[in-house]
Amino acid sequence: MVERVYYNGEEITVLSNVYTPSDDTFVLLEEALKVVCDTDYVLEVGTGSGIISKFLSKKAKSVIATDINPYAVKNARINAVNVRTGHLFANLACNFDVIVFNPPYLPTLTEGHEPKDWLNKAWDGGPTGIEVIMEFLSQVTNYLAEAGKLLIVASSLSDLRKIITKMTDLFEEVHIVATKKFQFETLYVLLGSKKYKKEDITSVDNTLVSSERFK
Ligand SMILES: C[S@@+](CC[C@H](N)C(=O)[O-])C[C@H]1O[C@@H](n2cnc3c(N)ncnc32)[C@H](O)[C@@H]1O
Repeated sequence: MVERVYYNGEEITVLSNVYTPSDDTFVLLEEALKVVCDTDYVLEVGTGSGIISKFLSKKAKSVIATDINPYAVKNARINAVNVRTGHLFANLACNFDVIVFNPPYLPTLTEGHEPKDWLNKAWDGGPTGIEVIMEFLSQVTNYLAEAGKLLIVASSLSDLRKIITKMTDLFEEVHIVATKKFQFETLYVLLGSKKYKKEDITSVDNTLVSSERFK
């Protein structure tokens, strides 16, 4: 079944077995549109339907996307996105000014459960919800330009503290740039950048995760 999603008056095609753009998509897209400028080379990991890359292409110098899901790759191409099939950064050998990722961030529902299909892989972040994110973070700086920026979605249902701790190891400045609250979950958009601000990093305490102290 083919779905149609609308953003800024434009129609986006969403194929079966591909993540339907949702609140996480739109909150990340809004923040990325604020960060990206016309000289930027942008990478989107896990593009799904390609909606984020499609709209970032209107602002950036260049946008490349990846996705592990072959249906998503086909879908993103329908939406005119330059996309490659692969795990995280597979087949990329260059640096980007901005990298964006709306990752699988929810904890696996049943212990020992393996993601069964492509839609599971879109949301299932392993037992603590951060398996894909931590693997991504362990590689991301290899693909960022010197003053590069990372925008990533994270959920209060996952081990957010570990994500922020890892990001503060990698980046000189880490901010929560957007927060979206739902009844059972809060979504965050985290921005990592190389601008030095050591006191923000060292003042992290045990309550930061649900606060907006990085603002
Ligand atoms: C939450 S969906 C987001 C899709 C789209 N960016 C959006 O915001 O609507 C996560 C996407 O990441 C892709 N993905 C999951 N694991 C991946 C990996 N290891 N490497 C690349 N893409 C991955 C999934 O196939 C899915 O398309």
